[in-house]
Order: sequence, then C-alpha cells, then structure tokens
Amino acid sequence: RSEKIWLTLSFGMIMAFMIAAGYQTFALEMGPPSHEERIDPQKVDQTAPFDQPGIKQIGENEYEVVMTLQIFSFNPANIEIPAGAKVHFILTSKDVVHGFEIAGTNVNAMVMPGYVQKITQTFDEPGDYLVLCNEYCGAGHQVMSTTITVK
Ligand code: CUA
Repeated sequence: RSEKIWLTLSFGMIMAFMIAAGYQTFALEMGPPSHEERIDPQKVDQTAPFDQPGIKQIGENEYEVVMTLQIFSFNPANIEIPAGAKVHFILTSKDVVHGFEIAGTNVNAMVMPGYVQKITQTFDEPGDYLVLCNEYCGAGHQVMSTTITVK
C-alpha cells in the first residue's frame, strides 16, 4: 500500500519537473531582450505596427512613437510632445544599420534592419531635442537628423 503512495508521489514529482522545464522554455521564448524581436526588413511597410508610423497617445501624457529609419531620414520626423511626456519608441530600419541618439538624454541605440528596438524616455525639460543617427550609414549620414520638440 505504501508502495502505491510512493509511486504516485514520484510520478507527481516527475510531472512537476516536466511542467517546470516546459514553463522555463516557454518563458524564455516569450521574454527575449527587445533587440531580438525580429521583423522582415523587406516587409516593414506591411508589418504592424510599422505599417502605421506615427505618434499615438496611450495614456495621460504617455505616448507611443512608431518610427522607421531609412537613408537618410526618420519617419515620423519633427515630433511634438508636451513637457513631462513619457514616450515609448518602437524603432526599426528599412535598409542599413542606423543610430538613434537623442542629444541631452541617455538615449543612444542601434537600429538594425530585421530587428525591433524599443526605448522609453521621459521628457521633463521643454526644448528642442536633436535626434541624430550615430552609425555611419552612407553619403547622407551627416544630414540624418530630426528634432523632438517638448513644449
Ligand atoms: Cu543613418 Cu547614419
């Protein structure tokens, strides 16, 4: 009779291990670092959210900016947001490796074709923030810039 209990117990433990291992694999697949989120660089225009680049209010003074980078521009360009806004940038490149640096902040990221880059930044100080490409991307690299205006 006690054998039956032990059998049941060990079977239960094996099941528990299997579930834990399966869950771990699942959790790893669900939560990769953001830069490992993939996108087909040939189909950026047809792939959500990049089929609709732009700025969208998602909360009280909280915004989502879906942006594509392409030689030698940022789309959308010249964004305007209110002071104190928390902005979630979702970025990808449509061609080569670009950079996304916001002068006067800690934002400085690589934006690669085939990957989705996500950055959150809060803009407390009003002013014009220069956005620069800081990865050499070709002849027009030096002019690849835009601004974020915080009012
Ligand atoms: Cu884009 Cu340099």
